[in-house]
Amino acid sequence: MLEELDEIYEHSLRDLTITPTISELEKWYKRNLGRKGQVTELTRQVGQVSQEDRPTFGRRVNEIKQNLENAYEKRLADLKAAELDSLLVFDSIDVTLPGRRQLRGRLHPSTQILREIYRIWGDMGFQVYRSRDVETDEFNFELLNIPEDHPARDMWDTFHTTTPGVILRTHTSPGQIHAMREYCPEPIRVILPGMCYRYEQITARSEIQFNQVEGLAVGRYITMADLKGTLTDFAKRIFGKERATRFRANYFPFTEPSAEMDVECILCNGSGCQVCQYTGWLEILGCGMVHPTVLRNGGYDPDVYSGFAFGMGPERIAMLKYGIDDIRYFWANDLRFLEQF
Ligand code: FA5
Repeated sequence: MLEELDEIYEHSLRDLTITPTISELEKWYKRNLGRKGQVTELTRQVGQVSQEDRPTFGRRVNEIKQNLENAYEKRLADLKAAELDSLLVFDSIDVTLPGRRQLRGRLHPSTQILREIYRIWGDMGFQVYRSRDVETDEFNFELLNIPEDHPARDMWDTFHTTTPGVILRTHTSPGQIHAMREYCPEPIRVILPGMCYRYEQITARSEIQFNQVEGLAVGRYITMADLKGTLTDFAKRIFGKERATRFRANYFPFTEPSAEMDVECILCNGSGCQVCQYTGWLEILGCGMVHPTVLRNGGYDPDVYSGFAFGMGPERIAMLKYGIDDIRYFWANDLRFLEQF
């Protein structure tokens, strides 16, 4: 009986050492030490052993049971450690690898140039005045001294709405009237930024929607010299001190006299290239002294007050500043372009 006991012991110990997984080990436990396991069964056979061998048998069975329990605990710990080791190898995170970069948005180049323009005019004491994108014919044209059937209307190809007399503004100039009517008789120094819309042929230099920044200064004794000095200062601040500027006489119905301002071509430094059409100069804005009729329409007496106004295209300025050769990039939503700013 004792020999059989030792044989069972050795056999189960051998089995234990080769259990490959924790679940196999649990099966082993059930087979040997479980409620109906063979070692447990042996303890029940104590009654069949002769009186004199009984104590030895009982001791030996308890010893075997204890040894197997200990061996089981050790094997379980070994298998758990091995499982953890393999997880560390196959499921590990290499913390030295570079992380995935978060994609960050950025400001659109038009917004960037607009903010730079606001900053410069802000330094010169001009406030931002917001005006509407949808305008009436009266504000976009008539109050700006462009009556119906006036040939100057051809300068602004217009998007009309289905409501008669309601249009998308073709320039930011109607905001001049809104600002004057709001502030009159106070002096004014504002810039009026925003989108303009023109029913135009789209080309490398012209879009059907684009930003403008209008400027308006109204007060006593404002002269053309103020206009030239202020705009020249602006050009130097945005394009650099060395950049030459010039004024050319021009015509706008709402200013008199009127002019356009050019800056020396940034691409060829004034020597002449395709972009400046070999003139060495690039136009950046229209300007002039506010026409007496417009001052009157805004509520100011032109015999007492005078003012200057200008309208510039921020996308055209950005094109010059950054050497962008086609305005269509601005609204094409091409990340290869936008990510460069
Ligand atoms: C005007 O719109 C006048 N309202 C400007 C003005 C204001 C003059 C106050 C006098 C006093 P013009 O059409 O030239 O002018 O446009 C002004 C600027 O807007 C241009 O110099 C150009 O930079 C920009 N611009 C005009 N049309 C387009 C277009 N289709 N696409 C992109 N930019 C344009």
